[in-house]
Amino acid sequence: MRVLFVTSEVFPLIKTGGLADVSGSLPSALQNIGVDIRILMPGYPAVLDKLTDLQTIASLENLPVIHNASLMMGRIADTQVKVMVIKSASLYERDGGPYSDANGLEWLDNPVRFGVLSKVAAILSGPHSPIVDWQPNVVHCNDWQTGLTPAYMKLVEHSQAKSMISLHNMAFQGCYAPGWLSTLELPHTNFAVEGFEYHGQLSFLKAGIFYADAITTVSPSYAKEIQTAEFGFGLEGLLSKRGDEIKGILNGIETDEWNPEADPHLIKTYSATKLAGKKLVKSALQEKLGLHIDASAPLLGVVSRLTHQKGLDMLVPIMQNLLDSGCQLALLGSGESALENAFSNLAINNPESVSVTIGYNEPLSHQIMAGCDMFIMPSRFEPCGLNQLYGLAYGTPPIVNATGGLADSVVDTNIITFKNKTANGFVMSEASSASLLSCIKQALNVFNNDESAWRQIQKNGMSLNLSWDKSALEYLAVYQTLTKPA
Ligand code: ADP
Ligand code: GLC
Repeated sequence: MRVLFVTSEVFPLIKTGGLADVSGSLPSALQNIGVDIRILMPGYPAVLDKLTDLQTIASLENLPVIHNASLMMGRIADTQVKVMVIKSASLYERDGGPYSDANGLEWLDNPVRFGVLSKVAAILSGPHSPIVDWQPNVVHCNDWQTGLTPAYMKLVEHSQAKSMISLHNMAFQGCYAPGWLSTLELPHTNFAVEGFEYHGQLSFLKAGIFYADAITTVSPSYAKEIQTAEFGFGLEGLLSKRGDEIKGILNGIETDEWNPEADPHLIKTYSATKLAGKKLVKSALQEKLGLHIDASAPLLGVVSRLTHQKGLDMLVPIMQNLLDSGCQLALLGSGESALENAFSNLAINNPESVSVTIGYNEPLSHQIMAGCDMFIMPSRFEPCGLNQLYGLAYGTPPIVNATGGLADSVVDTNIITFKNKTANGFVMSEASSASLLSCIKQALNVFNNDESAWRQIQKNGMSLNLSWDKSALEYLAVYQTLTKPA
């Protein structure tokens, strides 16, 4: 089974969110079960910098706008995963992030940047590929940045390979003015409802959903949710037409990277049977963040993009109540300025009990995950979510809203789930401040009054197998179904 895995982000090369975590770990899990997999991604400066054994392997011709580029291949250090990158100085080698400049403004030529990524994936799977000794059976696309790939494969390159798209977040669709059709050399006849047109615009994501041979999402609940108006972001009609085919496969976690027993970012490692180290990590975190060092103060953790999706606006109005109950908060994140300001003000007014770090910080994200007592994730929608999985693995019970992958991974604590040892967190009854408050209060009740019950809840989460092993087999099964002779 040869698979071309097309993505815009791969940890540790470049990351803005969970897509990078998935792309950094799923391919290697697939390789471990015998899949011959290669990643294809844009040659951002950090990617060119970090890959080892990087060599030019082919010349790419007939590309929109830039006409040609080179295809390079390297390896992610310490792994055997092969990564092919499109090297184009004019498209990808600039300062700023993968989607926007240093001021947060979207690159105006994103349709070309990701149109070319999609086109190259299609070329590499088709009869005109410049690589003769490696042709994929399946092209596995991820999110809108790769959405045009299935369209190019079917309509332009006449590829024999099968295409599939994994939907990590319906909120980002890549919709652009119809003028881009000609620039991207897409057939105008397919700019239609039965094609890649969406409310008069060219939609990258719709193209992927419409033309892909298979569709997956990153949790079973999200696979159902996106077929409703509440979560489908306008594409629920198209998605429900393909409803039964859409398979939800829960993400795993990279256990080499996220493992409290061997985490280089922690002053002391710990495990489900040796939880003492977690206390030391907590006091070190309190000290580092300037919080009052107090083992008994419930420390709430947040690591998140600060956007509507993540629901952290629900935490702001209940913070005073929680502080009055003796809680502390350690927050790391960035996003909407109103939310950044609201949390920053809380920290200014409560320096010994609230710490807010605005920005992106990999080591601190591990320290918060390990040092906090509870992880707060009240997302309004969450295709999968990785942080609640990290919370489970680190003995930091997650407090989550019942949606998407959160509902599929966190088991609420009640009499039944406590008895049968499945309870591993606390689940809100609805997305509201009141519900979040009552959920945190339930957790505090156990944390403050019943140490052995709390330890049991921690252990239940820590003993789950959250690795990619099971999910990788499910992806392999999708590839096999796709390529089965008719
Ligand atoms: P999403 O991809 O929707 O943002 P996920 O929970 O799937 O949500 O993944 C988010 C990933 O990004 C996690 O690995 C998380 O630790 C990381 N992350 C988010 N914000 C930050 C930050 N400010 N600093 C460091 N890591 C962050
Ligand atoms: C998206 C989703 C998140 C998911 C991640 C990886 O960023 O918002 O829920 O975990 O993709 O699949």
